[in-house]
Amino acid sequence: MIKKGIILAGGYGTRLSPLTKCVNKQLLPIHDKPMIFYPLSVLMLANIKNILMIVNPGQIENFRNLLGNGSRYGIKIKYKTQNKPRGLPDAFNLGRSFIKNENVALILGDNFFYGQSLTQKLESSSQHKIGATIFLKEVNKPENYGVAKIQKNKIKNIVEKPKKFVSNNAVTGLYFFDKNVCKYTKKLKPSKRGELEITDLINEYKKKGNLKFEQIGRGAIWSDAGKIEDLINVSNYVRSVEKVQGIKIACLEEIALLKKWISKDTIRKNIKFYGNCEYSKYLKDL
Ligand code: G1P
Repeated sequence: MIKKGIILAGGYGTRLSPLTKCVNKQLLPIHDKPMIFYPLSVLMLANIKNILMIVNPGQIENFRNLLGNGSRYGIKIKYKTQNKPRGLPDAFNLGRSFIKNENVALILGDNFFYGQSLTQKLESSSQHKIGATIFLKEVNKPENYGVAKIQKNKIKNIVEKPKKFVSNNAVTGLYFFDKNVCKYTKKLKPSKRGELEITDLINEYKKKGNLKFEQIGRGAIWSDAGKIEDLINVSNYVRSVEKVQGIKIACLEEIALLKKWISKDTIRKNIKFYGNCEYSKYLKDL
């Protein structure tokens, strides 16, 4: 069972410069909310309430101004600075004292997930006690991602940004690991690009025969928002769904209220905090 989660929201976001010159990428807007709301909502939907947020130097204050200690959403948020991007598994070096020999989820701060079967998949995978679970999604340009080859319903191999075609199954930026994650991270060596690679960590679990996967189906969407084009596409997607259906994607209060983690009184306080805006209007209707 997974009760803890890390959101990796560091990195220079150079592909989005100059937007990211003085603001952490994960605080940029996706339509009507800061990007960070979306991965945070995914962890909440997986019933993870204890969260470590890893951010760039000088940015903790900004995140704290927005999310505080998490009590606004019935969760606990702690913050930690990453001085230099050293690859995704570095989250487990930085988060060692937070993880404390327990299972942990990792989600990348710029990853967007949305779709009907997703919540069920999150809930069932978060029950796993042993091993690692990764979430795969078919994409057009697998060469931009970690890619998994599936054979006979098992993962045959995983390659980081393959130059030659391996498969269309991208490894998305959401991972569930058991308590061995810090131990396995210690064994990793930096790759040619000088970073620890998440695919190497996943391969450690595979070697031990302890790797599971979930496929995100056609009815759900996954995207990262690392490039301007993605940022706009995801924003437009959220805008369309919200406009046509009259719901909000990644409304943290709505999730917390449904799970009975907060009261209506907390929502009233949050409305005051956000001020007079569309988001507050939606909260009033809850
Ligand atoms: C990272 C991972 C890659 C994964 C991707 C998902 O890539 O290394 O395996 O598929 O996130 O967003 P990066 O964003 O560092 O290029």
